Amino acid sequence: MDLNLKNRVVLVTGANRGIGRAIAEASVAEGALAAVIGRDESACRETVQALGPDRSSAFLCDVTDRAQVDRMIGEVVGHFGRLDAVVNNAGRFGGSPIAELSAAALSEGLNTKVVGALAIVQAALPYLRRSDQARVLNISGVTAQRVTPGVAVTAIANSGMVALTAYLARELAEDGINSNCLIPGYTLTGAWRTRAEALAAAEGLSFDEALAEILRRQDMGHSRWGEAREIADVAVFLLSAQAAFVNGASFRVDGGQFLAIQR
Ligand SMILES: NC(=O)c1ccc[n+]([C@@H]2O[C@H](COP(=O)([O-])OP(=O)(O)OC[C@H]3O[C@@H](n4cnc5c(N)ncnc54)[C@H](OP(=O)(O)O)[C@@H]3O)[C@@H](O)[C@H]2O)c1
Repeated sequence: MDLNLKNRVVLVTGANRGIGRAIAEASVAEGALAAVIGRDESACRETVQALGPDRSSAFLCDVTDRAQVDRMIGEVVGHFGRLDAVVNNAGRFGGSPIAELSAAALSEGLNTKVVGALAIVQAALPYLRRSDQARVLNISGVTAQRVTPGVAVTAIANSGMVALTAYLARELAEDGINSNCLIPGYTLTGAWRTRAEALAAAEGLSFDEALAEILRRQDMGHSRWGEAREIADVAVFLLSAQAAFVNGASFRVDGGQFLAIQR
């Protein structure tokens, strides 16, 4: 299926690794040009080398800094000449039990995901309005819909992404911009690899046993780890021409993990 992404410019935050990188890769595979956004310069450069410097370019930006966001959007449009889609993927995993949760930690989590996403959309708006296939895709997470003790910061930020998406969809529809949200389940990216390695070392498990143990402790039933590519495949569909009638929707992409923990 031709997704009509050829030579469209897709900006992905947090694109130097994990799910963001997979979305940038899948977009380029569909013919798009990718703006790779991140803070880690060498990881951004390495990603562009892998994607192809003729199909992608890196732009350093901390999405919590509005001045950097405005500058970065200007650089992206200056480089590619247009902007068709933004994927707000940057995020951090973490938090602490509610009794110990600091306002600073909560602010940082919200600033990275929700405030950062809003800044990107606002800065990109004049260019998205000019596109005939304008898309905003926000990456939330399954903690928006289920309680996992100890990760309140992530959960509150993820819930914010669902609500932000609804308002973007409603208020930007008249500009011809479709906004949707993806809610990934447990997906094997760097932070989880690090956790699994730590668990394996602490409990004398193999890496694979540690991965299985993490899911078991989350009551995931027979569920498995998702791959970043599996999130990206749904993401590129939501950026496509075929998704023109999809606006304001939030999709779980979790292999049924959410259902597995329903009692
Ligand atoms: N993996 C999962 O199981 C899972 C599940 C549900 C939802 N999610 C969500 O999916 C998204 C990606 O997750 P992931 O596992 O791929 O994460 P990851 O591997 O930890 O990557 C996070 C990305 O976000 C970027 N980032 C963080 N803070 C930033 C900031 N202030 N400005 C610019 N970039 C920033 C990082 O870039 P730099 O290092 O260059 O700053 C990095 O590229 C996150 O929003 C996460 O909450 C993940």
